[in-house]
Amino acid sequence: MSSTIVVGGFFGDEGKGKIIAYLARHDKPEVVARGGVGPNAGHTVVVEGKKYALRMVPSGFVHESARLLIGAGVLVDPEVFIQEVSSFGLQGRVGVDMRCGIIEGRHIEADRGDKELKDKIGTTGTGCGPANADRALRKAKQAKEIEELKEFLCDVPLELNETLERGGGVLIEGTQGFGISLLYGTYPFVTSKDTTASQMAADVGIGPTRVDDVVVVFKSYPTRVGEGPFATQMDDTEAEKLHIEEYGTVTGRKRRIGRWDGKMAAYSAMINGATMVALSGVDKIDPSCRGAKEYSELSREVKDFVAQVERDTGVPVKLISTGPEISEIVDLRDVT
Ligand code: GTP
Ligand code: IMP
Ligand code: MG
Repeated sequence: MSSTIVVGGFFGDEGKGKIIAYLARHDKPEVVARGGVGPNAGHTVVVEGKKYALRMVPSGFVHESARLLIGAGVLVDPEVFIQEVSSFGLQGRVGVDMRCGIIEGRHIEADRGDKELKDKIGTTGTGCGPANADRALRKAKQAKEIEELKEFLCDVPLELNETLERGGGVLIEGTQGFGISLLYGTYPFVTSKDTTASQMAADVGIGPTRVDDVVVVFKSYPTRVGEGPFATQMDDTEAEKLHIEEYGTVTGRKRRIGRWDGKMAAYSAMINGATMVALSGVDKIDPSCRGAKEYSELSREVKDFVAQVERDTGVPVKLISTGPEISEIVDLRDVT
């Protein structure tokens, strides 16, 4: 077993939750650890018809024996976290690094009350930006100071590195996407942190030399929520004609829809150090491919698109998602 990081290659909402849940069920890692900004993320996981929306706990929870961890880099909203732990029944298997930054009520108020953040950037209003600002100013609280989190506190890097040392598998779950990285995205229309694979490794505390695979998830039709440039955005009527409509998991806002952006995909695959690509939503290109599990079941149009993604990124497409359900996937990892 080994370590794999999963990150978003476009503007977030590429379907990382689904890919991570599939990898967790299929590869059975001992530990699934979450990096990324915090509860601004919304992963959607659909298992046997049941839909889960997760903001804080790892999507790998669907692999029932996995230990679930939240890395020190992540911001924790204790209320959101505790609510998810109880509604998904995760007591006893989830740990929060004692150094996680804490989102307080005042951060949420500042995020929602600031015209620049709310209107110009179009933030999720979850308090992440103001909490990360306080963290940089060394004014933020840490998880170890919060009474309700006491039973969950742990040392995430120690658990992960010991698991890897023993030969156990580790899956690291990224959130957000390349285009909204504070460093490499469309600044200032970005989130409050880097979102690339290197950041995810730092968030959970494993060194770059311990990362075996980086899976970059791309959506066949990229989407963007909030403000900011989107080079390949379609107008509403074009998206309607293609029967594509999506709404944000956290805010319920309508997602802007775009066409495949090969240039952005190449740049993002490069900076993430992608070893493989996971391509989601090919059923939106050709609905006849919905639910396909074998490459041979894909249409010529979809196969040609997969080949184009490989040419654009220079990285093999090893996972092809054909619907929201975790079982709807073509896994080419064992095929050479
Ligand atoms: P963030 O961490 O917030 O960036 O989100 P995410 O990457 O986990 O994606 P999110 O779940 O917010 O959005 C993806 C949407 O597409 C969800 O509604 C998924 O259920 C759905 N989805 C995922 N894969 C596929 C697919 O292959 N086909 C279709 N039709 N929908 C998919
Ligand atoms: P913030 O992260 O809430 O400060 O929002 C900053 C920008 O990033 C806004 O455009 C948000 O819509 C976007 N954003 C933050 N998290 C996500 C995510 O998980 N998926 C998609 N967009 C996100
Ligand atoms: Mg999302």
